[in-house]
Amino acid sequence: MKLCVIPGDGIGHEVVPVAVGVLQAVLPGLQLVFADAGWEEFCRNGKALPERTLAAARECGAVFFGAVSSPMQLVEGYRSPIVQLRRELGCHANIRPTLSLPLASSRNGIDLIIVRENTEDLYVGDEQSDGEVAVAIKRITRKASLRVARSAFELARNAGRQRITIIHKANILPRTDGLFRDCAREVARDFPEIAVDEMLVDTAALRLAQAPESFDMLLAPNLYGDILSDLAAAFGGGLGLAPSLNLGVAAAIAEPVHGSAPDIAGQGIANPLAAILSVAMLLRVWWQRPELALRIEQAVRATLLDGIATPDVMSPGVTTQHLARVVIERIRQQ
Ligand code: NAI
Ligand code: MG
Repeated sequence: MKLCVIPGDGIGHEVVPVAVGVLQAVLPGLQLVFADAGWEEFCRNGKALPERTLAAARECGAVFFGAVSSPMQLVEGYRSPIVQLRRELGCHANIRPTLSLPLASSRNGIDLIIVRENTEDLYVGDEQSDGEVAVAIKRITRKASLRVARSAFELARNAGRQRITIIHKANILPRTDGLFRDCAREVARDFPEIAVDEMLVDTAALRLAQAPESFDMLLAPNLYGDILSDLAAAFGGGLGLAPSLNLGVAAAIAEPVHGSAPDIAGQGIANPLAAILSVAMLLRVWWQRPELALRIEQAVRATLLDGIATPDVMSPGVTTQHLARVVIERIRQQ
């Protein structure tokens, strides 16, 4: 088994190495290939995603990506390497779970997964403006909609999930969102054991805010999925604990939801749990080793139950390194 490790920028350098340490505690034979990407790499070598990083990612199939910084203004030649990497590796589904954790900042009773289409919708970035009128293309295809729906239903089947809620706004956008919904319904016929319902995205936002525990899985087009999953992340204890997996046919990228956090980078206090829980997703979904994923997740839970966490969620907090060391200790005690 091989893993391409891309720490990126900022706290990526802090959370990625310790999460790799946790992964090695359950998978000692893992081979690691380290590679560079991001803003620092762009400043050094003029490329945010160098060819050799892309080649290493392709070769390994499994990728662990930390976070990168993106400038707020347009910089000639700079493109977000994670967006490019997802595209190059054909990672068509973004999977974002939210789980209640034993923390004051987390809400009880939640165990939901949002599956977001990862390649099209308004994210094709096809915009035009003459200064008076600006237009953006919302592109939805049958192919991408069927593909992400299939991944979502397969995930539901493997994870023993009961229900998928299709998110759309087909009352206003019957052609685009209607197509997405119809494709999801078509795929659903192959999974009779999984219940299906649908909800308008605005209603879903309200319902997520009011009763997040009432959801099992949500399947959404790109933009709605982006927004709803950040909302859901708030219930899991915040950005420092929100994991994700970008899933494709030939590759998967584990990636904490947070960015490079320049405000705390270099202080050794970044929360590594989002990164740690992301590699657990790689174990469960990509490498099909759910029993190893569970060991990591149980160790994380045990650590939090002991009141040990970084300052973003606990006071007084411990350092990134200390927290990861405790998680590894808990794994060894299992
Ligand atoms: P951010 O996620 O980096 O930080 C938002 C806030 O959450 C900050 O106060 C930060 O300290 C805190 N935070 C985030 N992760 C944390 C962790 N693991 N432990 C403790 N606290 C944590 O988002 P922001 O500030 O909007 O963006 C900063 C940079 O990151 C920008 O350059 C942005 O472009 C980039 N970014 C990259 C992403 C990626 O690589 N996928 C995703 C989001 C932002
Ligand atoms: Mg987002």
